[in-house]
Amino acid sequence: MRLDKFLSKATELSRSDAKKVLHRGEISVNDEIIKDGGRHVDEINDEIEWAGEPLTVATGNRYILLYKPEGFECTLRPKEYPIVTELIDVPEWNSLRIAGRLDVDTTGALILSDDGGFLHRVTSPKHHVAKIYELTLADPMTDEQQATAIKEIAKGILLEGEYEKTRPAELSFSDETHATLVLTEGKYHQVKRMMAYFGNKVVELHRASIGTITLDGLEKGECRFLSDKEIEQF
Ligand code: URA
Repeated sequence: MRLDKFLSKATELSRSDAKKVLHRGEISVNDEIIKDGGRHVDEINDEIEWAGEPLTVATGNRYILLYKPEGFECTLRPKEYPIVTELIDVPEWNSLRIAGRLDVDTTGALILSDDGGFLHRVTSPKHHVAKIYELTLADPMTDEQQATAIKEIAKGILLEGEYEKTRPAELSFSDETHATLVLTEGKYHQVKRMMAYFGNKVVELHRASIGTITLDGLEKGECRFLSDKEIEQF
C-alpha cells in the first residue's frame, strides 16, 4: 500500500499532519528516510519507523496471499512437515485460517485470513470462485483420452466415496502430460481424485490463481496482503 495510506492506518495523524511528518523526514522505511507519501510499502516485510519507533497497522482482519512451497502442511496440528503459517511473519499468526487447503506436495496460491465470513465466501461452492490448477500427469494421455476427460469433466464426474457429481469444470491440455483444470469447488484431494478417475496420477500440482488473485511478483515462500479490491471480489 502507499506509505501515506499506511501512516493513516498505523497512526492517528490527519492526512495533512502525515504530510508534514513525511516532509520533515521523520519517517523511515528499512532505515531510509522517505518523504514521498506515494512510495509503495509492504506492511509485512518492510520496517517502517516514525522518529525511530516502529509502526504497525492495527490488527483488524488480515487477508494474506502466500505462495506455498512444497513440503509445508496446511494444518494447525502438523504431523510430519513444517506448517505454512511459519512462512508468515505477522503478529498473532496463529489466529489465521486457510481458505482451501493444498496438499504437502502441492505449490501455489494459498489465502489465509482471520475473517471467518471471508474464508467461507472464498471456499463455499455456492460462490463459484474459480481456482486454476496446473498439473503434470504420470502417464501420457492420447488425444482420444484427453477428449473424453474434457467432456466428462465438463459434465461432472462421480468420485469414489461421493454422493454428488463434481461441479462442471474446465480441463485443457497443453501436451499429453500437462493440463490446466479450472474448478469452482474444493473437495478433499479433488484434482488428484479427478485424474485418478481416468486411471492417471498427478505427479505435480500447482494452484496458479484464486478468483482474480495470482502469484505475480511473489517467489515461493513469500506472502503479501491482499488489496481491498482483491478482498471485495468475494
Ligand atoms: N486438489 C488436490 O488433489 N490437491 C490439492 O492440493 C489441491 C487440489
